[in-house]
Amino acid sequence: MSAPRKAHMAGALAPPAPGAVLSLPLAHRLLGMKESGAFGVCGKCRSLYMVEGRLLTLASSSLPLPAEAAGPTASTSAADARPLLEMKGLSKSFANVTAVSGFEAAIAPGEFVTVVGPSGCGKSTLFNIVAGLEEPDSGSILRFEGRSCHARELLGKVSFMPQRDLLLPWRTVIDNAVIPMEIEGRSRKAARAEAREMLPEFGLAGFGDQYPHQLSGGMRQRVALMRTFMFKRELMLLDEPFGALDALTRTMMQRWLLEVWRKHRRTILFITHDVDEALFLGDRVLVMSARPGRVKLELPVSLPRPRSAELVTDPEFVRLKRILLEAIEEEAMKSFLAPGASGTH
Ligand SMILES: Nc1ncnc2c1ncn2[C@@H]1O[C@H](COP(=O)(O)OP(=O)(O)OP(=O)(O)O)[C@@H](O)[C@H]1O
Ligand SMILES: [Mg+2]
Repeated sequence: MSAPRKAHMAGALAPPAPGAVLSLPLAHRLLGMKESGAFGVCGKCRSLYMVEGRLLTLASSSLPLPAEAAGPTASTSAADARPLLEMKGLSKSFANVTAVSGFEAAIAPGEFVTVVGPSGCGKSTLFNIVAGLEEPDSGSILRFEGRSCHARELLGKVSFMPQRDLLLPWRTVIDNAVIPMEIEGRSRKAARAEAREMLPEFGLAGFGDQYPHQLSGGMRQRVALMRTFMFKRELMLLDEPFGALDALTRTMMQRWLLEVWRKHRRTILFITHDVDEALFLGDRVLVMSARPGRVKLELPVSLPRPRSAELVTDPEFVRLKRILLEAIEEEAMKSFLAPGASGTH
């Protein structure tokens, strides 16, 4: 720990910007040691890291940075930290209901962000917008890969698992999984071969030729997830994918999903009503307010990965859970007492 301490003693200076790339001599000076490789500052947790090596976890929000580092080699943060998806002042009204109002969030590439909020607060509406199925109200700002866009331009750019699994009952597991690729015009034979290879990873080995009614609820959800993963897009939207599962299957699916996410390295936005699930999976949790939905609380989850089942008893997990529960309960109560869909907002 002596190296990080030295870093903190090195002069009274401003902390480095998230995503900044530090020059090698400067990084060596900060750490008080000689190492090869490039150094940067993590855009999420602000840790100083070595590009080809271990993560050097420092309390880097207070990491000092010498004035000379403000030169051209020190800060390329804007490009590095560019969000994949940005939503600003996002609103959506239906006839007499305002579902979402003033929703703001930015999602970084590779992030796993979970979304919780009371029933009817506009979570699925938000996903429908990001998936390109609904246009938000005018004045809403939507940016994808750094470019402003209409929601409809995102259709086909984002993979989406809707709240219901929507498997076609007359199609087998394989033929359900290949639907997006068929729509893209790929050869059905090649798509089927690819799907068959993925079956074991999704716990569906030997079930490729079964029909949805022959599967358990958990298996149906894995087919829907496999279909979403096979539609290879950087951003995946998963709307309560484990909602219908019993607690044990759900826990297994969560661990499995983290493993699949680690391997495939996608960016995931994940809706859930389960606070434990939101914390266990997410890099960040967004708590939505009662309708009209906006972000009430953004909670970073700095729990280490890989995450194991015991994490739920960790004091930090319990602390974060308390914060989340308090925020959600307040909104759930407002939601419960609010007028129904016939009321105006
Ligand atoms: N197509 C639509 N037409 C009219 N109203 C709609 C439509 N879609 C959603 N709504 C309304 O918008 C509000 C938000 O609905 P949404 O499905 O987004 O909520 P949710 O947060 O996903 O809820 P849940 O947790 O129960 O799934 C609700 O009041 C709903 O009735
Ligand atoms: Mg919903």
